[in-house]
Amino acid sequence: MLDKISTGVKNLDEVLDGGYPRERTILVAGPAGAGKSTFALAFLVDGILRNDEPGIYVSFDETLDNVRADAASFGWDLKELEAQNMLAMVDGFSLRAGIESPEKYKIELEVDEMLNLLIDLIDSIGAERVVIDSITAIALGLSEELLQRKEILKLSAVMSALSTTTLMVSEMKNDAEISRFGIEEFMAQGVIVLKYLFNKSGRRTLQVRKMRGVKHNMSEMPFVMKQSGLECFPHEELYDI
Ligand SMILES: Nc1ncnc2c1ncn2[C@@H]1O[C@H](COP(=O)(O)OP(=O)(O)O)[C@@H](O)[C@H]1O
Ligand SMILES: [Mg+2]
Repeated sequence: MLDKISTGVKNLDEVLDGGYPRERTILVAGPAGAGKSTFALAFLVDGILRNDEPGIYVSFDETLDNVRADAASFGWDLKELEAQNMLAMVDGFSLRAGIESPEKYKIELEVDEMLNLLIDLIDSIGAERVVIDSITAIALGLSEELLQRKEILKLSAVMSALSTTTLMVSEMKNDAEISRFGIEEFMAQGVIVLKYLFNKSGRRTLQVRKMRGVKHNMSEMPFVMKQSGLECFPHEELYDI
């Protein structure tokens, strides 16, 4: 039986027979607005508040102040968790956007630099959970497909050698394409896809596409994000509401 780690999403631990496999890398894929960043933050916050497991959030897509503000709308006080040294927030956005970063931890859009900082931070705060949001940004920052693949491969290899459980966020361009670079979904031990259905009810959905070593529900299930928390509904049908 694999050692498991909580997901921070109500009912998802049960769907995964206890949670994500610990020390593995999970890909969280979906289009913009599907809830990937919130889903990933819920994993970190749950680790800190309920399991006393420190976490690291690397943001390549937004300034940390935006991330903190978005988190505040779910009642999560990231600044407070940072002050307690339970959370380290890494700004991977400002330098590449050409703006000044007021942050303690800031990096370029560069895999080696990020990995070095992650290794230091894992050591200094005892992090057990890591979120990289997103790997799409890293890969799109590279000009050649071959280089993109090489860097994603290196990233996955290093992360799987570390003892942390990592969520790698990936932005999907369209419904069919989980991995933009063709290798992320094979490199990860698990794949969660989040979507937003543009039907009249406008529902969010969550699907576990892959979770190595775990027998799990394969269906696309309703998923909600509310201030009271995130929740999926494995026993509800999507279309009959
Ligand atoms: N307090 C809130 N309660 C419920 N939904 C929210 C709240 N704040 C933001 N959202 C929803 O979350 C969406 C953004 O989610 P996010 O995790 O940033 O998506 P992604 O990272 O996939 O682009 C917003 O478009 C909005 O619909
Ligand atoms: Mg996001």
